[in-house]
Amino acid sequence: MNRQDIDQILAEVGALACKTQKEVEEARVRLLGKKGSITALFEAFRTVDKDQKKELGRPLNELKQAAIARIEELKASAVDDGADGASAEDLTMPGDRNELGSRHPVSIVRQQIVDIFRKFGYDVAEGPEIEDDYHVFEALNFPPNHPARDMQDTFFVSSGHINPILLRTHTSSVQVRTMEKSQLPIRVICPGRVFRNEAISARAHCIFHQVEGLYIDENVTFADLKQALLLFAREMFGPDTQIRMRPSYFPFTEPSTEVDVSCNICHGKGCNICKGTGWLEILGAGMVDPNVLEASGIDSKKYSGFAFGMGLERIAMLKWQVNDLRHYFENDLRFLKEFETAPEV
Ligand code: DAH
Repeated sequence: MNRQDIDQILAEVGALACKTQKEVEEARVRLLGKKGSITALFEAFRTVDKDQKKELGRPLNELKQAAIARIEELKASAVDDGADGASAEDLTMPGDRNELGSRHPVSIVRQQIVDIFRKFGYDVAEGPEIEDDYHVFEALNFPPNHPARDMQDTFFVSSGHINPILLRTHTSSVQVRTMEKSQLPIRVICPGRVFRNEAISARAHCIFHQVEGLYIDENVTFADLKQALLLFAREMFGPDTQIRMRPSYFPFTEPSTEVDVSCNICHGKGCNICKGTGWLEILGAGMVDPNVLEASGIDSKKYSGFAFGMGLERIAMLKWQVNDLRHYFENDLRFLKEFETAPEV
């Protein structure tokens, strides 16, 4: 070997041009592989005499370094290629799709209810899920040991002392918190999660959602309650919806009523959803009991008000004819995807 051999390969390295990774790899093998030209020079170098070793050693090493650097450089700029030498990136392939989530039916219904009552001038209020006995029962006119407490089978967090801590069984507790801290008049709706010690079945669950409504001012009457609920029902279930009020009992309202809407599936004729009655029960309501107003420091001689409460899962079931409450909690995508384009009412 001689200097000329080195310079010749150096020129080749300098002029090296590769478009694809495959070409870069071929060039690397040709120069630096086991049988490559630079490797061959190193082989030959072993047998040259001492003087030549001095003269050629350094340029030979520099050649090798230059070849390695050039190959790296080309590697960085060459395109990927498949086994056949064609580009591995097929730009005509469809892109990866990002799966978009959709809103849960209970959230959709909650938002609709909030929007409807916002239009009527109601504010939204929230309260704690872990509550005390006072706000869930006592201040709502459920005396200790009153049988009405049995209507709501309660999860206690701690018991045995004066004011046990528990998971709220209804959002009516937020009524109390609102009355305690707000200035009159009050007009709020309170959406939230509630808990009851119920065996899980198609019709009952231990966790569900309610929306509570409360309106307190001077001269609020039962007629105002009826009108508010009629307007709500028509916004929610359609303009032809009728409502019907049946007498009922809740400790915190007097008089109390349960409210039905005309069945929006059979339009009152009777079907299996309304069990042939033409009516669907949607909420409980009534005039706030004076004891409840007084417990929160509101003068019941001057002020009156109404309240109502409804279960969101129930409203969503009626709206979309869901026949099993458990679907709401199982997160089965086949169920949830049905609400991706939930129809607006
Ligand atoms: N809190 C009641 C329940 O969970 C629902 C209810 C009934 C709320 C009547 C009210 C009302 O505000 O006036 O069963």
